[in-house]
Amino acid sequence: MSPLADGFGRPLRNLRLSVTDRCNLRCSYCMPEEHYVWLPKPNVLSFEEIVRCVDAFLALGVDELRLTGGEPLLRTDLPVLVRMLAQRPGLKDLAMTSNGVLLREHAAALRAAGLQRLTVSLDTLDAATFRQLSRRDDLPRVLAGLEAARAAGFADVKIDTVVIAGVNDGELPALLDFARGIGAELRFIEYMDVGGATNWSPRHVVSRAQMLALLRASHGPIRELPRTDSAPAERFELRDGTRFGIIASVTKPFCATCDRSRLTADGMWFTCLYAAHGTDLRELLRTGADDAALRARLTEVWQGRRDRGAEVRAALPDRRALAEAASLRQNPHLEMHTRGG
Ligand code: GTP
Ligand code: 5AD
Ligand code: SF4
Repeated sequence: MSPLADGFGRPLRNLRLSVTDRCNLRCSYCMPEEHYVWLPKPNVLSFEEIVRCVDAFLALGVDELRLTGGEPLLRTDLPVLVRMLAQRPGLKDLAMTSNGVLLREHAAALRAAGLQRLTVSLDTLDAATFRQLSRRDDLPRVLAGLEAARAAGFADVKIDTVVIAGVNDGELPALLDFARGIGAELRFIEYMDVGGATNWSPRHVVSRAQMLALLRASHGPIRELPRTDSAPAERFELRDGTRFGIIASVTKPFCATCDRSRLTADGMWFTCLYAAHGTDLRELLRTGADDAALRARLTEVWQGRRDRGAEVRAALPDRRALAEAASLRQNPHLEMHTRGG
């Protein structure tokens, strides 16, 4: 089967599955508001419905799945879903992005169920900054979660750090040393103007170039490693062999090679992080569409895909937050915590 290509020739390979829109943190770059409108519970796809969608995507060339949220560990019985997904033929990579708060309790069960890779969000090593950033006091739990992940046998844990000017940009060297110490690969992420980031402004962005300058000052020369895949992270190496990544979606978008799409917990399929509209797969599933009809719909939408959201944003002369809080309450599907980080 030749790979399904979109309007710019990009294949469909990577599917991010948001299993819940709920989160137990309130990170300022993602959920800064006091109140949120949640997806109605009856709309949330069952595990069986998720697997039906996944099988349709696998048949069209997807071979990498990532579970996201909100916080995916808030979904009841997640290891049951992991086990169902891990058994799908044709799947090469099954990963999850978590904030780590509940990982200590669940790491072993996830590993046993067949989860292959884990990425944990960690933006600071300072308890006060953690509280300021996430409005919760959970730094010790996240650190215990990272420890539990290693103990459970997750070998190549990654750490995602969103860098915000004046908040955690003084901690880049310490975070890098911490990650090296626990054998995890850290990725510094430029603060993006996604839906949900209502406090975003260009002033708060620490660019890839600025991050590299900060890290050169603390850790010496940095070598850029050649790219091996279409993943958003560029990878770098310090003189002592420590590797880390930078995801520069703001100043250096990777739309040209973007092979990913996302399915929300209620079955809306988005072909771009910034897309205004999605495709309602729940409606299809619940009105009796058969597998062929599901695949036909996915094929039609992907072939028409011409999204390059981050590039369009980067070209704006006066760039500011993507959406206001009021419009997000009207349309929670615009939220990063609904689309999956
Ligand atoms: P691996 O490299 O396979 O480990 O995963 P990944 O690079 O997809 O990493 P992860 O899922 O942890 O995503 C890291 C960050 O990249 C996200 O939190 C976002 O900030 C950014 N990102 C992920 N997907 C997209 C996307 O579709 N578009 C853009 N512009 N940024 C994205
Ligand atoms: N900018 C960059 N990354 C973000 N994430 C959420 N909001 C943003 C944002 N505004 C990503 C982070 C976090 C993951 C769950 O989602 O990587 O770790
Ligand atoms: Fe933070 Fe992730 Fe929760 Fe958003 S979904 S508030 S980034 S932990």
